[in-house]
Amino acid sequence: MRDRVLERLAREGILLEPDAAELVLTKEDPLAFVHTALSSLEQQPLIITLSDLVSRSSAIETSITPSVPQSVEEVATRDEHFLREVQSGRTIAGEVKVMRDITGNSTCEGNINDFARYFADRFKTIKRMLVHRRELAGCVPISKALKLDRDVRVVAIVNEVRETKNGHRMLEIEDEEARCLALILKDSSAISDSVVPDEVIGIVGKTNRKGEILVVDEIIRPDIPLRGPMEKSDSSSSIAFVSDIHVGSNAFLQRPWNDMMSWLRNEGYYEGVRYVLVPGDCVDGIGVFPDQEEELLVDDIFKQYELLSELLKDIPDGIKLIVQPGNHDAVRPAEPQPAFPKEIKDMFDSQVLFVGNPCYVEIEGRLILSYHGRSMDDLIGSIKGLTYNNPLEAMKEMLRRRHLAPTYGGKTPIAPEKKDFLVIDAVPDFFVTGHVHGAGISDYRGVRLINASTWQAQTSYQRMHNFNPDPAKLPVVHLGTCKCLMKNFN
Ligand SMILES: [Fe+2]
Repeated sequence: MRDRVLERLAREGILLEPDAAELVLTKEDPLAFVHTALSSLEQQPLIITLSDLVSRSSAIETSITPSVPQSVEEVATRDEHFLREVQSGRTIAGEVKVMRDITGNSTCEGNINDFARYFADRFKTIKRMLVHRRELAGCVPISKALKLDRDVRVVAIVNEVRETKNGHRMLEIEDEEARCLALILKDSSAISDSVVPDEVIGIVGKTNRKGEILVVDEIIRPDIPLRGPMEKSDSSSSIAFVSDIHVGSNAFLQRPWNDMMSWLRNEGYYEGVRYVLVPGDCVDGIGVFPDQEEELLVDDIFKQYELLSELLKDIPDGIKLIVQPGNHDAVRPAEPQPAFPKEIKDMFDSQVLFVGNPCYVEIEGRLILSYHGRSMDDLIGSIKGLTYNNPLEAMKEMLRRRHLAPTYGGKTPIAPEKKDFLVIDAVPDFFVTGHVHGAGISDYRGVRLINASTWQAQTSYQRMHNFNPDPAKLPVVHLGTCKCLMKNFN
């Protein structure tokens, strides 16, 4: 876009100083902006400077966007601010507000009492969502439901799921006071709906004659409310997601990485990319899987982060960088994971914002939930229809369950914090994950889902497990229009 705009202006005999070009290219309609600015000049200078444009910007902005009432002072202040930003070479990205993050808030020791308190918090938080479901109106505690001779509704956490030898499914469920068995008959419509241990569900059913077992008619999930298309905002910024870089691996994709950085520095920046978020697995780490050392180019974890820091220096100053850990990074493996420790942060530019995993951030009015995605290893295999080839479906299942890691005891270690940071209690505008090295964009009930690829080619470990990554893709989301595109650097 930059080249097209500047070429078009040059053909008209309009030459811009670099700073003036920067300003023009931030405008929604750069050509109209320049033409209006020049029409107010008595004589067109040979080369247009930034001050030629800024000194007339109040009139220009008013004429281009008449529907937005702005005082001359407001516009002038904004443009002076912009001018200072451009001259100082500092960021013009907006503020990134960290809305929820475990970093600095961890209190757990991991003992049995912590786990009891953790699951009680999960139950309480998701129950609050479920009791508002129309299908669960009039729900009662399990102890009461077992005494009633009519249709009942309960909210419970699932302790265990097993298949009976006759093809039925038996759940052991529990609430604050009691536990019981819940039977899903093999010919019930509910049998097609996978239930995973530790998720919180609503059940509509009946008690058997002896008052011991609930026979399930329907499973109710908290889910997210159905929303229409996202409303446009006046933001002109975009955010790009660069996941699973795996610096230090001998399969790191240097050439596609260089191409992507070149795009970010040029077209990407001029097309409005102002934020880059890295959803984890920044480096390959050490000892993450058996015989990993055979696949490492750099076998020192600190050197891996030094290299990462060098690679990220190519991102222009005007782009705000947000970095999150994943299961290959040098923080505790148990989720929620805090941001990197000081000794690693100190290797990076002070402008980089380090956050935990998961993390909610708000950028220019859009709420983004970023989660590395380790729990997909547990969900794929326990929920019918999920595969590594379509991580977006696993993300939908997380939203349906309002939890990022619904099942405990598998591959996803969980730190039993006082509060369950993995509950999806706020519905985001964008939900991004990495981890499975896939690439995709989808929608679920008005939430945009993004799985953010990788910068590592297929490793021999992945080859052995018949896993085919989809590397070197860059999802870019416009914060104003919410449109997404997937740039391919492969
Ligand atoms: Fe990864």
